Amino acid sequence: MKPILDRQAIQDALRQLSAALAAATLYSTEHQQVRALVPQILESFARLLSKQSELTFLIVKKDLLFDGKPLERTPHSERIARLLYARNIGFIRFYEGLDSGEIELLLRVAVGLEEAALFNSVTPHIDYGEVDTHDDRETVRPIARFEQLTDEELKNIRDFYDAIGDKDNLDIREVSSVIAGFAAAFQQEANPLLALVPLRREDEYTFTHSINVSILNLAQGTSLGLEEQLLHDVGIAGMLHDAGKIFVDKEIIRKPGQLTDEEWQQMQQHPSRGAQYLMNQEGIPQVAICTAFEHHMRYDMAGYPKVPEGWQLNLCSQMTMISDTFDALRTRRSYKEPWDFPKISGLMLKLAGKQLNPYLTMNFLKVLEGLGEQIIESGISLSADAPELSEAELATRHVCE
Ligand SMILES: [Fe+2]
Ligand SMILES: [Fe+2]
Repeated sequence: MKPILDRQAIQDALRQLSAALAAATLYSTEHQQVRALVPQILESFARLLSKQSELTFLIVKKDLLFDGKPLERTPHSERIARLLYARNIGFIRFYEGLDSGEIELLLRVAVGLEEAALFNSVTPHIDYGEVDTHDDRETVRPIARFEQLTDEELKNIRDFYDAIGDKDNLDIREVSSVIAGFAAAFQQEANPLLALVPLRREDEYTFTHSINVSILNLAQGTSLGLEEQLLHDVGIAGMLHDAGKIFVDKEIIRKPGQLTDEEWQQMQQHPSRGAQYLMNQEGIPQVAICTAFEHHMRYDMAGYPKVPEGWQLNLCSQMTMISDTFDALRTRRSYKEPWDFPKISGLMLKLAGKQLNPYLTMNFLKVLEGLGEQIIESGISLSADAPELSEAELATRHVCE
């Protein structure tokens, strides 16, 4: 896992950039104040880029998000966000090797002297994406039901999972449009939560589980009002949270009952192995890497992997823990009777504040209200490779190792 960048260092770099933008707006990009600041900005960014080879900032109106997490809103971050938003820039990414000419162009674009499209042609170390306009949104086909997936989309999802299974290179574009389709359906108040069900295939627990966690993440993200790009990344993060399971022996994943210490140790490696694997793949959102790493840490930080004190869990990791727990409870019946929605929500409420973020849990259960029973009733059959857990185990163990 890459080192977590010091948020203060990011804010310092933004402060310098904002000062240059303020001067450029007031005077011109050629003003000596601006010129004097360029080497300082470059130095700050170079320092950050030496620790993390790409820095992505999402722009959500007045806010900047870094690595999927909102940065504390300061007048500086606000200025930068507002200027970039006005140029229709939805995200901007800096790569190691950034030079002063590129910083100067960034300033000229931000104050409206040049077109952002230049980032595509003349700045190898800066790229950007546009703010999603309403028109763009309409071009995404909403997918509210499983049956609406085309053969090609299904094949793409399958290829994507085959690539994970084979530890091959992933092509994120294969699933991006499907995620966008589910997200669009939520936005139109259709409810793709019911698409969870038919995707279950008896022989492919991890495959269906991952898609379900993705849809449940999108349901949460939509209800929390996440901006489109972040919502999309949160969906991708759900799909990829368990990617590290490909490094765990299949027998361990399928094993019913308690694991031996040795098996448990291997199982506990899947978050860091997954994050490592995803880090080496192109175009995987940072938030998905972070989520793969953090999704078993628990809200009270009593989970794994162990991290230094003071570690702060990403919002998406906490959302994923909830989706993960729900899907695991829903699909793994106990030796006795399958659990119904009140029982599952009861256990989730018990876990709230310990394993799960209590606010997000409440929100999640509210989102599922009304549909919960239907979703659970249709999903109770046990997948071939999902371990059966006794009622006691369901209640005490983390339900989705
Ligand atoms: Fe996991
Ligand atoms: Fe999982």
